[in-house]
Amino acid sequence: MTIQYKFPEGFWWGSATSATQIEGAANEGGKGKNIWDYWYEIEPNRFFDNIGPETTSNFYHQYKEDIKLMKEIGHNSFRLSISWSRLIPSGRGKVNPEAVKFYNNVINELIANGIEPFVNLYHFDMPLELQNKGGWESREVVEAYRTYAIQCFQLFGDRVKKWFTFNEPIVPVEGGYLYDFHYPNIVDFKRAAQVAYHTIVANAKAIEAFRTFNFADSKIGIILNLTPSYPRSQNPYDLKASRICDLFFNRSFLDPAVLGEYPEELVEILREHGQLPAIGEEDLDLIKNNTVDLLGVNYYQPRRVKAKEHLPNPYSPFMPDWFFDYYEMPGRKMNPYRGWEIYEKGIYDIMINLKENYGNIESFISENGMGVQNEERYLKDGQIQDDYRIEFIKGHLQWLHKSIQEGCNVKGYHLWTFMDNWSWSNAYKNRYGFISVDIETQKRTPKKSAYWFKSVAENNGF
Ligand code: NOJ
Repeated sequence: MTIQYKFPEGFWWGSATSATQIEGAANEGGKGKNIWDYWYEIEPNRFFDNIGPETTSNFYHQYKEDIKLMKEIGHNSFRLSISWSRLIPSGRGKVNPEAVKFYNNVINELIANGIEPFVNLYHFDMPLELQNKGGWESREVVEAYRTYAIQCFQLFGDRVKKWFTFNEPIVPVEGGYLYDFHYPNIVDFKRAAQVAYHTIVANAKAIEAFRTFNFADSKIGIILNLTPSYPRSQNPYDLKASRICDLFFNRSFLDPAVLGEYPEELVEILREHGQLPAIGEEDLDLIKNNTVDLLGVNYYQPRRVKAKEHLPNPYSPFMPDWFFDYYEMPGRKMNPYRGWEIYEKGIYDIMINLKENYGNIESFISENGMGVQNEERYLKDGQIQDDYRIEFIKGHLQWLHKSIQEGCNVKGYHLWTFMDNWSWSNAYKNRYGFISVDIETQKRTPKKSAYWFKSVAENNGF
């Protein structure tokens, strides 16, 4: 077989998950409640098919079998997150020994199977007690997160060599404080800005603490969902709106995390509209001095930006709006199964931007993937024939390969996700996994893409 797209030696091939989405056992093993457990309790009808986080994909009990499958499909690396409220049920204070045992078992099992664990500390799952103290709006919670991060480094840092402070930190800002799709369902721009800012302070504090451990060969990074902004036209309003989207949705986290400072233009816009968050005295130095070693990039789709016609937007008067409207842009390729645009070149544009404007920081694709509704319709001879997913991955890998040929510092590709899992308020609506999961029986069956990916990993290309 000829390999047309060969990747650099040691490339990381694997997949990504998060605790709340796969573990289940939400009320077992001494776990405390987090905002998802609580939100489901008070508003179950906000979740697709009324399915909540109690069971999800049962990784808590089936991790051994799952890790075996990872090995079987060629993974050399795998991302999981630690559930803060499992490890420290109240968010601060006592560590739960059953959780320590569980995460030790998972980490050891991965390593024993030749799979490097990539461990993320925060994936949307604030412990409920800390949310009741104000969540990310509160400085106390930033301190609690720092302590939690230190506990994790102490407990698992001898074996875990890739750490991440946050996954997609902008999503809880958008979901929880602007657009009402995460608890606490607040719609308030100023509070959203405070939450975003505190997350970056928390990121810098965790990095500062991490450095004091002097671990050999360990790295710490952040995982950001980067959505390249493309103006809908060359009209100056659209151009400006697109730049503003980039500032808000990408650079608000990318610049401080990688460069140690906020873009001047973003600060100016916030100041002009009276929306600057409260800034602690030493924060800016802390952010400056504690940037990441490694950047995870989650890429799904770009933003096609058009200046908003009907100003002001009541939630955020200066924010432009954007569309994802198929009919308005003939020729755009859409995922027919979920309505998201598929634009493979976006992955290349992101990497070139990182090379040119962010010191070519070491990076990898930490998520990319295709959600499909009613995927069982592609079941044939006991296997989901997900050729569309194979095409999707190939298309993105080709552009990723090109970016590497042009000197981008890209180290790996993780699919979202290993097995079908619980996707927040969408629950099990869209299936993304290499492995299909029957949520009644918890039976796992690899899809066609899983075996295709195995050959890619084994050949380090395709
Ligand atoms: C990104 C998030 O990190 C993950 O939690 C989510 O399920 C996927 N996108 C798919 O929407």
